[in-house]
Parts: sequence; structure tokens; C-alpha cells
Amino acid sequence: MSIGSKIRSRVFADRMQAELALAGEIAALVRAKPDAVLGLATGRTPVGVYRELVRMHGEERLDFSQVVTFNLDEFEGLAPDHRLSFRRFMQDHLFEGVNLAPENTHLLSGDVASDEAPAHCAEFEERILAAGGIDLQVLGIGLNGHIGFNEPGSGVDSRTRRVALHPVTRASFEESVGAEAPTHALTMGVATILEARAIRVLALGAKKRAIVRRMLEGDVSSDVPATFLRGHGDVRVLLDAEAGA
Ligand code: PGA
Repeated sequence: MSIGSKIRSRVFADRMQAELALAGEIAALVRAKPDAVLGLATGRTPVGVYRELVRMHGEERLDFSQVVTFNLDEFEGLAPDHRLSFRRFMQDHLFEGVNLAPENTHLLSGDVASDEAPAHCAEFEERILAAGGIDLQVLGIGLNGHIGFNEPGSGVDSRTRRVALHPVTRASFEESVGAEAPTHALTMGVATILEARAIRVLALGAKKRAIVRRMLEGDVSSDVPATFLRGHGDVRVLLDAEAGA
């Protein structure tokens, strides 16, 4: 596949500067478009962004009452209130700290039976379309180049679906939470993500340096699904000094 448009990337002095920049952009969008549709990510990376949005809600009256959110992915087999579910993560890090209407927060459900997953995933895509599409998608990048849970091998045309988790993803999860990782998940597809009007990738820390370099400069290939972002017209990558060195 030919190399797509060059992604703009910016290296910030430290993690907090990158987090504040992304939170500031989200806040500016919400102020300009109170019913903005946000695509959200979980994991260690976006925690500081959500902390800053909660602060802006409390101290600067940033209003989420009409904002709509869609999360990238969810583990299979975890009930929404399970301590390791992404629904729980979002409740703890963002939803309970701002005035989002619960009915405006959309996550794939981790406790649908696997044979019901295709219908559930199709319905999730319909909900995104019905909301008018995603204005700004927040993304992290996995050590194996995944975006959402689009693991190596995921195609550029992939849609929201059930996937098997890659060993690198499971190991990273187990290292961070000290519990056995689920084997499967539901995730927005690469094509679903690429339909967002703007995409912002946040990558922090020295461990991400090599995969960030491959995303920005390596061959565009399903071996590193994040390289497909280079075919999108409005992607920016925010890095701390360690990830961008
Ligand atoms: P992390 O995960 O934020 O925990 O590093 C990123 C990802 O897998 O997308």
C-alpha cells in the first residue's frame, strides 16, 4: 500500500504538557460544539487527559450535558461493573466527574454472548452514525501497534467486531493490573476509527518510542494497524519527550 499523508506529530516537554494540550483541544471542541461526539480510549495513557477534563468541568464550568461519547473497545466476559471493565474505568476516570448524561455514553458490552456479538457490534456502528459520526477520536497505541483492539493482522476495512487479543496486549494488561487478561474483546474496526473527523493519538513514555516511529515512518501495513492512520486527513500525534526522542 502506498504511504498516505504525513501525520503531524508534536513532542511536548513532558507527559503533563501533552495531556494538557489534548484536554485543551477537547475542551475547545466542546465549547464550540456543545453536542460534540467524542471517541474515547482507556488504558494508562489517557488518564491525565480525563483528570484535566474533570478539573475543567469543576473549575471552569466545562459543560458535557449535551456531549455524546463512544468508547473504542471493551473486554469480553466482564460485566459493566467489573472492576477491570472499560465501562468501570470510564465511570471512575471521567463519567462520574463530569455532567455527561448516562444515556449519551456508549460502550460496547462485555457481557454479550459471542454469537450475539455481530448484531451488537452492528448496532454500535448504527448508534455512531445516528449520532452524526465522531468529531474527535482519542487514541492510544499498543506496543504491538494496535489501535483500539485492532491487533496486528487487522485490515484497513475492518469494522466493529469481536477479536482475539494478541499475546503482547494480554501481557501488557497483566503487567498493569496484576490479573489474568481476558482472551477476547469487542472493538471498533480500523475503518470505523478512520471515519472520525479528527483523530488524536497520545503516546507517552520510552516504551512507546519504537512503535511510534513505526507508525510514523514504517511501511503502511496490517502488521502495524496504527500505520493506517496515515491515510486520514486530520490525525495528530501528541508525544512526551521520551516517546518522541
Ligand atoms: P496503554 O494502552 O495506554 O495502557 O499504554 C494503550 C493501548 O493499548 O492502546
